[in-house]
Amino acid sequence: MIKLFESWRKKGSRPAIEAPSGDNIPKHVAIIMDGNGRWARKLGLPRIVGHRNGMKAVKRATIAADELGISVLTLYAFSTENWKRPKDEVDFLMSLPQEFLAIELEELIQKNVQVRMMGHPNELPDHTVAAMEEAIERTKNNTGLILNFALNYGSHREITECVKEIAVRVQNGSIKPEDITQDMIGSGLLTGDLPDPDLLIRTGGELRLSNFMLWQTAYSELWFTDLYWPEFGREQLFAAVAEYQRRTRRYGGLS
Ligand code: FPP
Repeated sequence: MIKLFESWRKKGSRPAIEAPSGDNIPKHVAIIMDGNGRWARKLGLPRIVGHRNGMKAVKRATIAADELGISVLTLYAFSTENWKRPKDEVDFLMSLPQEFLAIELEELIQKNVQVRMMGHPNELPDHTVAAMEEAIERTKNNTGLILNFALNYGSHREITECVKEIAVRVQNGSIKPEDITQDMIGSGLLTGDLPDPDLLIRTGGELRLSNFMLWQTAYSELWFTDLYWPEFGREQLFAAVAEYQRRTRRYGGLS
């Protein structure tokens, strides 16, 4: 079986794509991994084959993000709305974290990658949570790339739960309404201690955010590609980062 980080070991075999360099590498890149199903349909294959090949693209994106020195890579693997899909497909998607980590966790540990999960674990199957918890526990002291899986994640729910917690603090008198700040909301979200995404990538040709990190992406640079997620790799990540480096971020001010 080919290991996830094989290409880290075989550096000489890499295709010659120039890596963006300089100080202006985005700290946090978030990706909406879309188009697995359409990729499979294009090839006359079942949708789950698309998802399995999507897992291979997760590997390529992780390697490339590490190579560029990106600090956080957040991947939208399953949304709070994805439960509407047929049970077989949901079951398959829920098996992927376990499959991915069974093959690759040791290598992730060696490469100093810290695995995290962002989402609501309660509705996830036990085997999915167990695989994620093991990876999180075993990589918690790693100081390299943070590989953050958004699993059963939805921005509306995240914000609603944060607001409810703040409302409870107001109700019990520990804070007043006028004490509520943007920072309090930001730090009460599931991203907690992480910086906001500098760059948001979406594959699959759709131009929308689909309930993904709506608060955190207020000033993210957006990069879209018509390529389907299973077609995504080092070259596309580098192209997105190179484009990011050409942009001027003004945050509502003047350059
Ligand atoms: C959306 O594309 C993709 C998903 C809902 C699943 C994404 C999951 C992966 C890429 C694999 C995750 C791997 C790990 C290790 C967690 P779609 O299938 O809805 O595409 P379509 O719009 O073409 O139907």
